[in-house]
Formats: sequence, C-alpha cells, structure tokens
Amino acid sequence: MHFTSLWAAALCLLGVTIAWPVYTPTLKTFPSYPLNGTSTIQYAAKALDFDGPKVDFFNASAFQWWYFDVVSDDLKESIVLIFFTNGPGATGTNALPFNIAEANIQLSNGTLVAVGAAATELAINTVLEGSSGVMNGTGYAWGGTPDLSYYGITVDDKLNNLQGTIQIYSDAPSHASCGPATPGASLLVSNQLGWANSIPDGTAIVDLTYNGIPLKYTGRGYHDSNWGAIPMEIMGTYYWGHARFGPYAIVWFDMLDLEGVEHQLGYLSENGRILANSCGSLTVRGTGANSTYPPSANQSPTGFHIVYDMGHEGTLEVNVTNTEIIQIEPPLYMRWVGSVVGGIQGKETYEGVSLYEWMIGYSGPLP
Ligand SMILES: *[C@@H]1O[C@H](CO)[C@@H](O)[C@H](O)[C@H]1NC(C)=O
Ligand SMILES: *[C@@H]1O[C@H](CO)[C@@H](O)[C@H](O)[C@H]1NC(C)=O
Ligand SMILES: *[C@@H]1O[C@H](CO)[C@@H](O)[C@H](O)[C@H]1NC(C)=O
Ligand SMILES: *[C@@H]1O[C@H](CO)[C@@H](O)[C@H](O)[C@H]1NC(C)=O
Ligand SMILES: *[C@@H]1O[C@H](CO)[C@@H](O)[C@H](O)[C@H]1NC(C)=O
Ligand SMILES: *[C@@H]1O[C@H](CO)[C@@H](O)[C@H](O)[C@H]1NC(C)=O
Repeated sequence: MHFTSLWAAALCLLGVTIAWPVYTPTLKTFPSYPLNGTSTIQYAAKALDFDGPKVDFFNASAFQWWYFDVVSDDLKESIVLIFFTNGPGATGTNALPFNIAEANIQLSNGTLVAVGAAATELAINTVLEGSSGVMNGTGYAWGGTPDLSYYGITVDDKLNNLQGTIQIYSDAPSHASCGPATPGASLLVSNQLGWANSIPDGTAIVDLTYNGIPLKYTGRGYHDSNWGAIPMEIMGTYYWGHARFGPYAIVWFDMLDLEGVEHQLGYLSENGRILANSCGSLTVRGTGANSTYPPSANQSPTGFHIVYDMGHEGTLEVNVTNTEIIQIEPPLYMRWVGSVVGGIQGKETYEGVSLYEWMIGYSGPLP
C-alpha cells in the first residue's frame, strides 16, 4: 500500500475531510487500430497510476492487457477475462481484433467455453492507483477503487449471451516485481515484459448468466496487467500462477528468457500483509510424468513443485496438483486450476486453490 492511501486513511481517522491528495484522474482512449511511430513504454513504478496504461499510444508492436481471473472454492468453475489493446501484437496472432475482450469460462460440468468481442475503442480512467476501463462496443467494463482494494467487472455481452458481474475484494496488497511499488521500482518480469499485480489474491463473487445458465459462486480472484512490445511467445518460457491456502497467498513467475536467463519472482502474503516479495530465490518445476525442465512442446506435467527461499521468513514449499486444464493452445500454452498443499517448512501446512499456466517460448517464426 502506498503512502497516499495510508495518508488518506490517517486523515480519515483524524476526521479530516480531504480524503485524497490533489490528483487529476486521467482519461485515455485508445483506438481500434495501431498508430504509426515509436511508443513510449513505462517499465518502472511511478508514485501513482499503478494499474493505469503503461504505453502512451499503441503502435503495431506495443501492447497491454488487463487480466482478471476467478476460481471457485471447489475448483469446478473458473473464469479468465482479458481486455487487450493490441491483441495481435501481444499474441503474434494477426487474426485477432486490435482491441479485444476475451472470456474463458470453465463450466461446472467440465465444459470449457471461449468467447471474444472486438472493441471499437478502449477508454481507461486512472484514479490514484486504480483503473477503470470500458471496452466500447463489447459490453465489458471494469472499475477499480483508487487504492486497489476492490475491482468490479460488468458484462453485458450480447454477441455471446454473457451477462452479469464479477466482484473481487482484495485480500493481499499490490506489489512491483521484486518488492513494494515505490517510485522507480522495477515492473519487469524479464527485460521485455512489464507486470503490475494490483490484486495478488482476493475474495471473488461471481454472478453471471451464460446462455441462460447461471454461473453463481464465490472463490478466489486475482488481477494484474502485462505489457511490452514483442509477442509473449517470443519472450521465453514461463510458469506463472497464484494460490490461496490458509492464511497465505502466493504469486509466482518463473521465466526462462530466450538468452537462457531465469527470472524468478516471488510474493507471499500472510493474513493480508506481505511476508516476502523478492526475486531470484523462487523455483517452479513440473512434477510427475512429462515434467522436464525447460518444458518441451505438448509435454504437460501433472502438477508443480514450488520452493521459495524467503530469507529470515523461512522457506515456503507448495505442491500444486492439476485438477483441470482450463485453456490449451497446443503446443505452446496451457492453463489449469488445481489444488495446493503448502506452508513454511517446519510450520503448519494448509490446503487451498490455485489457477496457473505455462507458456513455451518460441524462438522461430510464430506458428
Ligand atoms: C501509417 O503509415 C502507413 C504508411 O505510410 C499509412 O498507410 C497508414 O495510414 C498510417 N496509419 C495511421 C494510423 O496513421
Ligand atoms: C513501437 O514502439 C516500440 C518502442 O516502444 C518500437 O520498439 C517498435 O519498433 C515500434 N513498432 C512499430 C511497428 O513501429
Ligand atoms: C455442460 O453444460 C453445457 C451448458 O449447459 C452444455 O452445453 C454441455 O453440453 C455440457 N457438457 C457436458 C459434457 O455435459
Ligand atoms: C467509449 O466509452 C466511454 C465511456 O462510456 C465514452 O466516454 C466514449 O465516448 C466511448 N467512445 C466511443 C467511441 O464510443
Ligand atoms: C507424456 O507426453 C506424451 C507425449 O505428448 C504423451 O503421449 C503421454 O501420454 C504423456 N504422459 C502422461 C502421463 O501424461
Ligand atoms: C510436496 O511433495 C513432495 C514430493 O511428494 C513431498 O516430499 C513434500 O513433503 C510435499 N510438500 C508439501 C508442503 O506438501
């Protein structure tokens, strides 16, 4: 949490009426086509605007997305929502619309549904740390509070017959790559991928209807944003995910870039406070059959083993077991929900839920 929110909270306690420092919200709109020229991309935190646009304008290479996921407490249902500007630039898939809202839904009977809608324009309003966005023409919009404590998503997607709301109440503070998001802190995962994790873990309430089927449940929620200027597939191989078990919420990012450098980003909160947030001491590896490292195409493990050396806070160990593949783009990409067992070595272990993915880096031309 940044000083501004603490300051505002302190002022509230003192009964002072001015709740926030003087700040002008910034409304930016992004057209549905690339602009010519060189985009300026921000890869270090500023004093504010944590979840705002990190690119001044989007040329044919520069992209950003706002990502949200929810998974039910019983792991039987999940939704991943991604709001892209420059979908083709982000994925290397030229058939995608430039501004696109995508939803991947895991129904309780195991069926997977993927829907998408092209936006005429993306309008983003940033207030203090939080952002609110409208994917014009799609029926999808999100709204975040200035202190990142809450995000709501409203859906009225007539094209795909998906309507309703998703709410995420944060239970774990935001963070930069290797520590607090103080001005100047790195927002890089590797040299080419920006990342701002606004809600590492939250309580999610889903109230949607898809083709008349009610999707109503509570579970865990998560929100972040990524950006860059080359497609994800040619940045390298990575394991990313998040889990909640007992008092703990973990976020991991373990990426092997195409130069062979492994970038290990770790985050753990305990009862809503950051216990550890550092780089270089978290290892994620596949378990079971087909768990070679680095992973090779179509070789999907049965789970993951995560070890995070948190220094004086101890060593966290988490075992993740896949329960269902919720998205698959062979041979490069897979996303799962799964159960976790984990804890700090020598202390109590807890069970919980997780949503996570891998991508295999592609050094040749994109398929
Ligand atoms: C970008 O430049 C190309 C070539 O000059 C031109 O055809 C195109 O209209 C330009 N795009 C925009 C958005 O200005
Ligand atoms: C877009 O801008 C980036 C700099 O941020 C530059 O590296 C890239 O070449 C530009 N892409 C195009 C298509 O102009
Ligand atoms: C799961 O439910 C959906 C929506 O009712 C239905 O279309 C689909 O056929 C079902 N799948 C299975 C495997 O029963
Ligand atoms: C997009 O939506 C925003 C917010 O509702 C609105 O201010 C803006 O005019 C819309 N733009 C277009 C092109 O419809
Ligand atoms: C391992 O991968 C191979 C090749 O993709 C596949 O045929 C096999 O079924 C996998 N084994 C397991 C246990 O998943
Ligand atoms: C994770 O799995 C390994 C291998 O089965 C086991 O040795 C270890 O105790 C497990 N750790 C936790 C926290 O369950």
